[in-house]
Amino acid sequence: MELATTLKGHTVWNAVREVGINPNYWYPVAWANDLKPGEIMPVVIWQQAIAIYRDQAGKLHALEDACPHKGIALHKGEVQGANLVCAYHGWALNGDGKLVDIPYLPPNQKLPCAQAHSYPIQEKYNIIWIFPGNSSLAEHCHPPDVPEFADPDWLMVPIPGHFQAHFSICNENTMDVFHGFLHKELQGWFDPLLMSLREGQGKVCADYQVSYRGNLSKFLGLSEQGNQVTTKTVSIQYRYPHYHSSLEGVSSLYLMRLPVGPSLTRSFSLLFVKIRLPQWFLGMLRPLLVPVIWHWFLKKFLDQDKEMIESEQQTYLANPQRRYVEINPAIIALQRVIVKQYEQYMQQSNQQGNNGHPDSSAIATDQAQLI
Ligand code: FES
Ligand SMILES: [Fe+2]
Repeated sequence: MELATTLKGHTVWNAVREVGINPNYWYPVAWANDLKPGEIMPVVIWQQAIAIYRDQAGKLHALEDACPHKGIALHKGEVQGANLVCAYHGWALNGDGKLVDIPYLPPNQKLPCAQAHSYPIQEKYNIIWIFPGNSSLAEHCHPPDVPEFADPDWLMVPIPGHFQAHFSICNENTMDVFHGFLHKELQGWFDPLLMSLREGQGKVCADYQVSYRGNLSKFLGLSEQGNQVTTKTVSIQYRYPHYHSSLEGVSSLYLMRLPVGPSLTRSFSLLFVKIRLPQWFLGMLRPLLVPVIWHWFLKKFLDQDKEMIESEQQTYLANPQRRYVEINPAIIALQRVIVKQYEQYMQQSNQQGNNGHPDSSAIATDQAQLI
């Protein structure tokens, strides 16, 4: 549905700062190369503690981070072959969370029936993904497509993000192109215009026109000369719960969101930039360029955003009744989608008798519409 792009005042719906997630999507939890065979890592998706481990054969597994014996966090244990062995009494669970050994149980005795919940897990684009919702729906849904990942013409810069704030505040920052003011010292963008806005089931797409100037813009291929102003279109697509934004073939950003808890959010982003250098030269420079771009450019932007995002969260927590005013209809549309996704999930959960596993056909239809 096409929406008006007029900037006019709306009262922000504070419910959006309190909503939970729809867990029936793939969420990013770690960079894949940070987890070697035999290693375990604790992760959290919306207050669900999960132990992920890579077995000795390199296969990934995800189990609830609680031993079925006494609840000890499983990530404190160790990997033995394909199993995760609890640190306390050495009970061994396989990748499905099934108890397969108790080291002190006499050989003629049967294992008790005990199990840790397991989650669908996969790795793609050097990111580890978990599906925290109804496992039977995992195969109907996929992490976002990132075609640039396999294209050597693009330089990929992985960007980690860590924010003490609700995911709605973080998501609004990404959709909000009108905050170029914050980055003015870093040669960010200026004169933004919202050109078009569309809202669909679980998604918001906005096209903005923005202008650039300066040597950084020249380096990124945005302008021919550093002192010239170049105007380009930034297209931002929010497909719950992740983002893709692109700048007319110059850059492409995939921002994968991990809501950890009511006031803690992480992100795993992949930025692709077209650097105008010969392929062989770019190949040589790649290991140097990535840390330079990250430390000298992107991190500075991100730190400025982080400060604003966390300030917004703190002020909200100090007085949740206070009302705020937004004039960007893209932000209002985004809030609607976030709240609707949660309400829809809760409604489906309730129809299933509060077991947290909503009707699979209903969700499968939603997923199909999102793709
Ligand atoms: S608590 Fe895990 S083995 Fe006993
Ligand atoms: Fe920003």
